[in-house]
Amino acid sequence: MKKETKFAHIGAPKAGLGTAVNPSITRASTLLFDRAEDLYRSDVRGYGRHGSNVHDALADAFTELEGGAGTVLFPSGLAACSNAILSQVKAGDHILLTDSSYGPTRKFCDGHLKKMNIETELYDPRIGGNISKLIRDNTSLILMESPGSLSFEIQDIPAICEAAKAKNVVTIIDNTWSAGLSFSPLKLGVDISCHAATKYFGGHSDVMSGAVVSRTKPLHNAVKQTAVHLGNASSPDDAYQILRGFRTVVTRFRQQEATSLALANWLSTHEHIVQVLHPAHPDHPDHKLWQRDFTGGGCIFSVVFKPCSKEHVLAFVNALKVFGIGYSYGGFESLCIHCDPQLKRNHATPFEGPLVRFACGLEHMDDLKNDIEQAFNEVF
Ligand SMILES: Cc1ncc(COP(=O)(O)O)c(C=O)c1O
Repeated sequence: MKKETKFAHIGAPKAGLGTAVNPSITRASTLLFDRAEDLYRSDVRGYGRHGSNVHDALADAFTELEGGAGTVLFPSGLAACSNAILSQVKAGDHILLTDSSYGPTRKFCDGHLKKMNIETELYDPRIGGNISKLIRDNTSLILMESPGSLSFEIQDIPAICEAAKAKNVVTIIDNTWSAGLSFSPLKLGVDISCHAATKYFGGHSDVMSGAVVSRTKPLHNAVKQTAVHLGNASSPDDAYQILRGFRTVVTRFRQQEATSLALANWLSTHEHIVQVLHPAHPDHPDHKLWQRDFTGGGCIFSVVFKPCSKEHVLAFVNALKVFGIGYSYGGFESLCIHCDPQLKRNHATPFEGPLVRFACGLEHMDDLKNDIEQAFNEVF
C-alpha cells in the first residue's frame, strides 16, 4: 500500500455505528480505576504522562513512516533530538556531531553534555567512511543530519553507519528535512531517526511536536526510559493536530518539494546569485549521493548571494511581501531568513557571499518567483 493511502487511515478507530474518522482526544492527568488491585499494573496506562489513544495512533504512524520498531513522542523537535542523545550517553563518553547540525542541537551538546563530562567533537559532514579515524574507545554516538541545516551538505550515511557498526557505536540522524518521505535512514542502517514534527506534519505553523523512531526494540526502550525519567509528556491536542497533519502530508510535501526545486532551478541562473544549495539541483556538490540515497527533496534550500553588504541582505529580506520573515519550514506559508548570524562551521570553507534560506509553502510558484524578483529589483 502507498504512503498516501496508509496515512489517510492510520490510527483511525474501527468503524461502528457512526464512528468518528479520527480517534477522540482524551485530556487527562488522573486516570481512574474501579479496582485498587489494578492501580499498579504495568500493562495498563496509569497516569496522564503515559499518553492516550491519540498518542498511540500518532506513534504508530511515525513507526510506519520510518519502518522502525517503535516511536516516542516529544513536545518539540529539539526535545526529540536531545532525549534521543541522552538515551545513548553516559559521563566520560565522547560523541561525534556533524558540523552541519541544527544550531540548538549543537548548543545542547556543547553546553549541557559538557556539564555531564561528555565531550562533543564536530566532524566534517562530508567525512564519509573516514569517520572511523575519529572513533575512540569511549565514542558512544555519531550524530548526523542530512542535508545539513542551512548549508545542505549530504552525508554518506551508509559509509558512516558501516564505520559506526564496526566499532559498536550508535548512530542518530535528524531526518526532519525529508519528513521521512524522501529518505529512509533506518533502512540504510541508522539506529535512531529524529523528527521535528512541528514542520511538515504540523503543516500549519501552529503546533510543536517531535518524534524519535528507533530501529530496534532495545534502542526504543532506551529512548522511552529516558523520556520517562525526564518527565516527558505532550498534549493530546497537539498529538491530534500532528496526526491530522499525517492525513495530508504526502500531498503537501510533494507540492512544496516541487516548488522548492523549481525556485532553486530558476535562482541558479539568477544574476544576483552565486550558488544554490539544494541537493536535488544537479550543480550541488553532493548531488550524486543524494540521487543514490534519496527519492526526493524537501521544501527548504539556501542560496549564496553575490558578495554584498549585510544591509543589502537585510533590505532584500525586508522587501519580500509573500515570503514571511521567520524560522521553521513545512507550513503552508513560505518563509525566508538570512543565515549568517547563526552560521557556525568549524570545517567548511566560508561561502563566497551571504547565505539566505527559503522555505516554500503552498503558494503558487509564480507569486513566489515574482516576490523574489521584485525584492531584488528594489534592493540592487
Ligand atoms: C533540522 C531541525 N531539527 C530540529 C528542529 C527543532 O524542532 P522544534 O522547533 O520542533 O523544536 C528544527 C527546527 O527548526 C530543525 O530545523
